[in-house]
Amino acid sequence: MKLQADFSLKPYNTFGIDVKAKLYARFDSVAELQELLQMPELRQEEKLILGGGSNVLFTKNFDGIVLQNCIKGIEVLREDDAYTYVKAGSGEVWHEFVVYCLEHNLGGSENLSLIPGTVGAAPLQNIGAYGVELKDIFYELEAVELETGQIHTFDNEACRFGYRESIFKNELKGQFIVTGVTFRLHKNHKLNTSYGAISTTLQEMNIQEPTIQDVSAAVCHIRRSKLPDPKQIGNAGSFFKNPEIPLALYDVLKYQYPTMPAYPVSETMVKVPAGWLIEQCGWKGKVIENYGVHKNQALVLVNYGGASGDKVRALAYDIIHSVEEKFGISLHPEVNIL
Ligand code: FAD
Ligand code: EPU
Repeated sequence: MKLQADFSLKPYNTFGIDVKAKLYARFDSVAELQELLQMPELRQEEKLILGGGSNVLFTKNFDGIVLQNCIKGIEVLREDDAYTYVKAGSGEVWHEFVVYCLEHNLGGSENLSLIPGTVGAAPLQNIGAYGVELKDIFYELEAVELETGQIHTFDNEACRFGYRESIFKNELKGQFIVTGVTFRLHKNHKLNTSYGAISTTLQEMNIQEPTIQDVSAAVCHIRRSKLPDPKQIGNAGSFFKNPEIPLALYDVLKYQYPTMPAYPVSETMVKVPAGWLIEQCGWKGKVIENYGVHKNQALVLVNYGGASGDKVRALAYDIIHSVEEKFGISLHPEVNIL
């Protein structure tokens, strides 16, 4: 384990923001992580756990130690008639885990194909796409407590998953490092093709009886056509969460804006696509110097190269204010602003 000083984080965040960490170390095992946490010279340092850096916006240099999670390995723990339990090291690339499931005919992760980042960060915000969330296949995780170095286990309920939420973003924020995640995958899986774009794409692919591999291919196709590739344009996916508003408020707004889309989340609440709200405020495709709002997806803020994180953050807050002013709806960032 090598400690590196004055370490550039530019290649380690998909926004491509050029900042430095005072100190940096990677860990490849739980033992290495525990050793790092015990080092007397690191005890007082502020710590940031980094996976693939695909859900962070750095606005300044990090004045502490960045610990990069590189714990690898995927193994079947056990199986019964209905399920296979698969454990993945938290530093595995999320999509590599999905590919493992596809190769072993294990259903449940296919709608989550191609989401960037690591397995260990996935429970943090309960990643979701195309009608499925991580919680639907999650069994339990192991995490090391930063303060004590001890290993704790959290089951599905203990993680308190919600829409882009978990206990690790709230009550336990910054207290645990996820080191391994166990998934419960279906042997006899029922596909979820309820998201309109999936069924349309499968039809275009001329597939009548889709397999999990077909659904994954459809999802990859949709994602590649909609979302900018961070290797080409710096971004962190959706910058904001889609706001949930009372149905009564939606009914009022719908009268004023008849094309406003919404999806039911309960009997009294609906979810409104933030991309639509931002587009209506005229931000879609806006370029300011070397950063802006993506031309095809208004929910994605982009760095065309060399932008500073605080300018991107200022843009995000300008967007929040204009949506608030026009619709009276508050947007909240999904991305972790550091
Ligand atoms: P990082 O960005 O490295 O970290 C994110 C946060 O988690 C940080 O606060 C970090 O400190 C913490 N963290 C990371 N690893 C650990 C760990 N092991 N233990 C404890 N804390 C940890 N998200 C979706 O939900 N759905 C999508 O469809 C989606 N699409 C995206 C598309 C694009 C093009 C991009 C760039 C991002 C997208 N995202 C999406 C967001 C992102 O992929 C996910 O949030 C992903 O889980 C982040 O993983 P990461 O390893 O890159 O996390
Ligand atoms: N829309 C617009 N203009 C835009 C973008 C979207 O009007 O510029 C409207 C359209 O009505 C569209 C609707 O928003 O039908 C929904 O758009 P899309 O299907 O692209 O989904 P999204 O709400 O923008 C969410 C997630 C994505 C996830 C997709 C697919 C959030 C914050 N975002 O995006 O997750 O991949 O659905 O399920 O929930 C991420 O979290 O980083 C992310 C990319």
